[in-house]
Amino acid sequence: MNILVLGSGGREHALTWALAKSPKCSEIYIAPGNGGTDSLGTNIKSLNIEDGEAVLDFAQRNDVDLVVIGPEAPLVKGVADVLRAAGIAVFGPDEQGAQLEGSKTYSKEFMEANGIPTARYKSFTNRDEARAYCEELGAPLVVKADGLAAGKGVIIAETLDAALGAVDACFSGEFGSAGNTVVVEEMLTGPECSLLAFVTNGKAFCMAPAQDHKRAYDGDLGPNTGGMGVYSPVPIVTEEEMAEMVRIMEVAAAATAKDPFVNDYRGVLYGGFMLTPEGPKVLEFNARFGDPETQVILPRLKSDLVDVMMAVAEGRDGDISLDWADDWAVSVVLASEGYPGSYEKGKVILGVQDAEEFDEGKIIVFHAGTGLNSDGELITAGGRVLNVVGLGSTFDSARHRAYEAVKRINFEGKQFRTDIGKKAQEGRSAWN
Ligand code: AMP
Ligand code: GLY
Repeated sequence: MNILVLGSGGREHALTWALAKSPKCSEIYIAPGNGGTDSLGTNIKSLNIEDGEAVLDFAQRNDVDLVVIGPEAPLVKGVADVLRAAGIAVFGPDEQGAQLEGSKTYSKEFMEANGIPTARYKSFTNRDEARAYCEELGAPLVVKADGLAAGKGVIIAETLDAALGAVDACFSGEFGSAGNTVVVEEMLTGPECSLLAFVTNGKAFCMAPAQDHKRAYDGDLGPNTGGMGVYSPVPIVTEEEMAEMVRIMEVAAAATAKDPFVNDYRGVLYGGFMLTPEGPKVLEFNARFGDPETQVILPRLKSDLVDVMMAVAEGRDGDISLDWADDWAVSVVLASEGYPGSYEKGKVILGVQDAEEFDEGKIIVFHAGTGLNSDGELITAGGRVLNVVGLGSTFDSARHRAYEAVKRINFEGKQFRTDIGKKAQEGRSAWN
């Protein structure tokens, strides 16, 4: 079977790695791919992955049997719709399904209509009305640009002034058209937990839970990032909370097949939860695999990912079964100095092979922002550079391995958190 993966991050390296392990996978193309996917298949740098017709043309010319869409942008642009209309199997929801991520207002209305617990909110297209609602609710507040804003459109405002400033920033075009509509919501507190599910035919098949670390620096300080580290499973989640999150994912999946939200949802639904004192509440839905969650979830999946994705793409929910390893996975992100602000690229990376080999089979290094220079050396090419994953029979051993491997990899300006998984090891009280 020939497979095309769209995207270039650590998530796409992990997807490609898991798909390429399947005996059913013959050719695998990654567009545009990165320095890591290069050794698993063929990187296609020139394809515009947000152009459905261009992706379709490539898929037809190369006898592609399955297209796996990694990032949100092509989903929101309807690339899955174009491919499906031409009879190609696609893993990823259609344009309307992707609105669960593409529009925070749509997502909130979807939650409200289906009784899904979430933060109290209102959505505005008028600056003064948004400001008035901030004053009515009072700080702390969360202000969100409605559309896709590369993870930057969510402002946690501890004070009313900060909230009003965030509303003004959205309406003055700081997030482009994503900020033409603004969601203002109450601030929730508690640990966060990501629960992803394969969804097809209105049915949800939940994966193992994972916990991301969004802030740039140790102790959950500094600016929000795309994610600086992650682990799976999540020991601080109670059985009751897990059951409630699974229930919510099942309700959400069923709602994708019901009026008025009916759509062709065949892909991953990502539930971003806050474990509040009143129970789990949804912070956001994403229409794709999480990055970096995928990098710790897929190494723990024992089932053949090609089988699972084909069944999802073809709506054969009866053929889906997920088998998970009992072990733990911890991933530490190595980032460029300055990330999530501006950073330099092109720094030579040393020690990746050494890191993978010192504990063979227990360390995986997934590339995110990497490339090759003209001398064939591996270089940094993005903010998040590498995901160093440690596996182990205990949380402690997985975490220890990840950090031992981190020591062996070097590039100028290497930046990482030293406390991935630390709070979870301390227990639930660490969040109080
Ligand atoms: P979102 O893109 O909506 O998930 O927001 C990104 C991050 O902002 C989340 O992972 C949370 O850390 C934080 N966040 C979003 N909404 C809220 C909320 N209502 N209360 C507290 N934190 C939030
Ligand atoms: N890890 C956060 C995300 O993928 O949105």
